[in-house]
Amino acid sequence: MIAFKQVEIKYGNFVAIENLNLEIQEGEFFTFLGPSGCGKTTSLRALVGFLTPSRGEILVAGRNVVNMPVEKREIGMVFQSYALFPTMTVFDNIAFGLKVKKFSKTEIEGKVRAVADKIKITDAQLQKNVSELSGGQQQRVALARAIVLEPKILCLDEPLSNLDAKLRIDLRRELKRLQKDLGITTLYVTHDQEEALTLSDRIAVFNNGYIEQVGTPYEIYNHSSSEFVCDFIGDINRLGKNILTEINTQLATSFKTDATGFVRIERCLTRARSGFAVLDAVVQDCEFNGILTKYTLSCMGETVKCLEKNDGYMFYKVGESVELYIDPKDIMQF
Ligand SMILES: Nc1ncnc2c1ncn2[C@@H]1O[C@H](COP(=O)(O)OP(=O)(O)O)[C@@H](O)[C@H]1O
Ligand SMILES: [Mg+2]
Repeated sequence: MIAFKQVEIKYGNFVAIENLNLEIQEGEFFTFLGPSGCGKTTSLRALVGFLTPSRGEILVAGRNVVNMPVEKREIGMVFQSYALFPTMTVFDNIAFGLKVKKFSKTEIEGKVRAVADKIKITDAQLQKNVSELSGGQQQRVALARAIVLEPKILCLDEPLSNLDAKLRIDLRRELKRLQKDLGITTLYVTHDQEEALTLSDRIAVFNNGYIEQVGTPYEIYNHSSSEFVCDFIGDINRLGKNILTEINTQLATSFKTDATGFVRIERCLTRARSGFAVLDAVVQDCEFNGILTKYTLSCMGETVKCLEKNDGYMFYKVGESVELYIDPKDIMQF
């Protein structure tokens, strides 16, 4: 459906994207994930048509679009800043693109109401000025304004970043539902790993203008292909020489002891499992966050974090000795 082929994008002499190669399938929810400044927005804007690559092709349904004007590309776009018309009503904001395209009054009325209904914008809200709405409601309007034009592709650049945590999770869920309903190919930009994992069919992890890995949330999380991905996508423990040597001795494994071993903190356990390495550890710190308690353990002169589900009491106190269980299958080395 969409293909980036050897795409280079520059700002003056600065090369923001050197050689982007990527294919996105029809109907897919595809996310660009990475830290600030790694080139997510730049790549998205080149697809939408706000930037022209200095090299390479961007294909949509087999057609190179790099020289096609923005309005011909049939791509809907929603930004972090809602970019609505502040003095217009919600209705007029949503209707704006339809008016430009010279739809009749009745058609506009019908389309705006249908989309408002899908996105849960009430009749009363349609008559309000956008400035009277909360951030979350404004972002709904921005989404409605993009969707009402029935674009072939929907591009969303950090659309939830300005909203508070609870609202972000509610809207995230709705966005996913809506995308499924519409079946629209969606490109989503975020620096939030949890958002990427929950929403996406596939994720491309960006680092400094390059893609480090493309895969499903499960693949990216459980089979990270580099230290950068593994570190960016979740909470990770770094196992050093002492622990790796001990694990090799106990289980006849062959981890490189002069390289770091990476293991997700929730895969480090304090209750017995067979086939796992068993290490003596001492609790250094407890961090209770409601659902889970994060324990910092000292183990063979190294620090290892682990998580326990909240069962209504604290499992361990600081200073207590515990056994740490690690499955060699969970250890990643690059
Ligand atoms: N208009 C611009 N002029 C010059 N450099 C820019 C411009 N926009 C972005 N950049 C640079 O390009 C790189 C990628 O930026 P961007 O795509 O916005 O990153 P992201 O969206 O991942 O945070 C950064 O180094 C950024 O400073
Ligand atoms: Mg950005």
